[in-house]
Amino acid sequence: MNASLPDAALAGPACGAPHPHESAHAHVQGLAPYVDDLPEPRGTLHAAPVLSPVAHGRLRGVDVAPALAHPSVRAVVLAADIPGDARLATPAHDEPILADGHVHHAGQVVALVVADTVQAARHAARRVVLDIELLPAILTLDEAMAAHSFVLPPVTVARGDAGAALAAAPHRLRGRFAVGGQEHFYLEGQVALAVPREQGQWHVLSSTQHPGEVQHWVAHALGIASHAVRVECRRMGGGFGGKETQAGHLAVWAALAARKTGAPVKLRLDRDDDFLVTGKRHPFAYDYEVGFDGAGRILGLKLDMMANCGFSADLSGPVADRAVFHVDNAYFLEHVAIRSFRCRTHVQSHTAFRGFGGPQGVIAIETLLGDIARHLGRDALDVRLANLYGRGERDTTHYQMRVEDNILPELLPKLELIAQYRRRQEAVSAWNSAHADVKRGLAVTPVKFGISFTATLFNQAGALVHVYTDGSVQVSHGGTEMGQGLHTKVAQVVADELGVPLARVLVTASDTDKVPNASATAASSGTDLNGKAAQAAARAVRDNLAAFVAGLDGCGAGAVSFAGGQVASPKAERGFAQVVQLAYANRIQLWSDGFYRTPKIHYDKQTLTGRPFFYFAYGAACSEVAVDTRTGEYRVLAVDILHDVGRSINPAIDIGQIEGGFIQGMGWLTTEELVWDEKGLLATRAPSTYKIPTAGDVPPHFAVHLWPEANAEDTIFRGKAVGEPPFMLAISVWEALRHAVAAARGGEHPRVQMDAPATPERVWRAIAAP
Ligand code: MTE
Ligand code: MOS
Repeated sequence: MNASLPDAALAGPACGAPHPHESAHAHVQGLAPYVDDLPEPRGTLHAAPVLSPVAHGRLRGVDVAPALAHPSVRAVVLAADIPGDARLATPAHDEPILADGHVHHAGQVVALVVADTVQAARHAARRVVLDIELLPAILTLDEAMAAHSFVLPPVTVARGDAGAALAAAPHRLRGRFAVGGQEHFYLEGQVALAVPREQGQWHVLSSTQHPGEVQHWVAHALGIASHAVRVECRRMGGGFGGKETQAGHLAVWAALAARKTGAPVKLRLDRDDDFLVTGKRHPFAYDYEVGFDGAGRILGLKLDMMANCGFSADLSGPVADRAVFHVDNAYFLEHVAIRSFRCRTHVQSHTAFRGFGGPQGVIAIETLLGDIARHLGRDALDVRLANLYGRGERDTTHYQMRVEDNILPELLPKLELIAQYRRRQEAVSAWNSAHADVKRGLAVTPVKFGISFTATLFNQAGALVHVYTDGSVQVSHGGTEMGQGLHTKVAQVVADELGVPLARVLVTASDTDKVPNASATAASSGTDLNGKAAQAAARAVRDNLAAFVAGLDGCGAGAVSFAGGQVASPKAERGFAQVVQLAYANRIQLWSDGFYRTPKIHYDKQTLTGRPFFYFAYGAACSEVAVDTRTGEYRVLAVDILHDVGRSINPAIDIGQIEGGFIQGMGWLTTEELVWDEKGLLATRAPSTYKIPTAGDVPPHFAVHLWPEANAEDTIFRGKAVGEPPFMLAISVWEALRHAVAAARGGEHPRVQMDAPATPERVWRAIAAP
């Protein structure tokens, strides 16, 4: 690993240093294989899905004959071919593996065509004739609410008396707005290769964030025990939440096709099909009434959140819960009543996406605060500061968790200085009074993001550390690598625990044969969980070695230290490999497992109260935009970020996560627009019509600063999770755009009515609206 880095450049402990990603060099040389790059076992066949063209209907028949007539087609797989449970083994158990009897969204997989080549399979899939009787479809949140169409029952979280507080408030605003979903657009699309092995056993290569769940689902669908299914994932070309559950579908389909044909089967979705088949970030709509005082302090809030969950529950329950948990963002809400509706519609089943509902909670309160500031003619940052959680008072969330580690009262003023917010706000005002065609906007928004899976049981992890007789180290843990640098950080942890150079430590592919029952790599907790588990495993090996050396040198084990590739006792200093060889010759165990469970967390699933999070990650961003008032086009000119990753295990990777998360959040709120047509068919399903940010959209000034303090909680290296929280910093772009729109509208108290994403068209309409 890091072969080209001179050891001297990164000498000393591995943690805290900006080591490159363990595969960085291989990535850029094309030497880091993804599932579709791996050599195919002899006789591998290829599958392609047959998709429902309609949103809702009765499936009267499937004519597979025209597909089977294709010379290289080997089989067509239908629901009737499923030997085990015909529904996916999800908690809600509400999702058919292949449509049977009914179709529930345009793009639902009805059948799989298996052929000798990908081209033949895809071609023949189009020949399968579906006989579907159309049924009325529920496509919008309004329709779902009117029909009481829910995947899960509504949830209410309340504190104080919102009604009375609203009635007594000197100022009130009410309104409605919506935010769109988001396609994950991982560069590597969804893919799985299922290989039948001896005696009813299976090996599945899957691009998945959750190998353990893929194993469980495949076993369940095949009607066999989990121990007969091995799932492996070396890396993903991006997951972003989109491969938390959705990868399981691919693996199950590939396994069913492999079982029917008796051959290995690979299923890689074409990009258009990936858009049509898989779920996205949940679109949300909000109805609110907020009361506040003259300083903009929120006195009472009633908020209804409608989540478009699509046709099945998938992860919608926990996603909508996390949205509820993040409505406060950084602010104390004394009297609040939140209702969360989990709406069932006839579209793709929406799923995890970076932030996991958190962004949909945070944007609600940030949008309200921007509106409140404009209503009062006050500076929006002042209004935000007035609402911040306090210390020792006004510090308990609406779900009854105390915010013990709040650093925003220092972090926000520090960002204000870094970004020169006050001076620039004056400059923006001066610009806006002097220019009619181009208006500027400037906004600061904070983030406070709860770290831990809200489902408490997922907050556990395991790892295996092997030390070989040459002193090289291999670590396997339950987490998966999707580009976020988890393997690099875990290797750094193990290297320091054993006091060896990072190059001595190799992280293997994630594999259900190595670490069982691992949680999804999600909720940004990959390093926190697996880092601690790997540390425990490495520590056990180190303890064995220390006891052995203590015996040799006649000292206490505590007097034996491991650093710089050397093992030192008061009597002697030996190379790590030398000690390992001696220990091996004396029959000392050179490998160990490690286990970790997050302490302190608990919560009541019914009332959504307790301490769902071990700690919070904080940050803030200041964004400036310029909007062309005649066309609605805009540019993000400058972004300053101050973000809290605790004590950074790897500042290079952490800054990369902050930059990437921010830009992805910007895409969600600006150019990435999902459009379903009036019949419920997703019209935007390729880069031609669905616009993710490009290198050209990166702001010319884009500065990321790390908050210097360690985590107050005892996490690995006292670091903090970084994967998701920075995503929400992009809400500063949304608020800056709304600021510019307000400037364009003019008047004393301009109201801005706009839904996200703020495409140029929406910005233009918001400016022009009466
Ligand atoms: N970064 C890259 N490069 N690719 C990804 O797919 N996924 C994000 C984030 N950063 C992602 C990423 C999401 S949704 C999560 S939950 C975390 O990484 C998961 O990894 P971690 O827990 O190791 O941070
Ligand atoms: Mo991330 S949405 O928790 O995979």
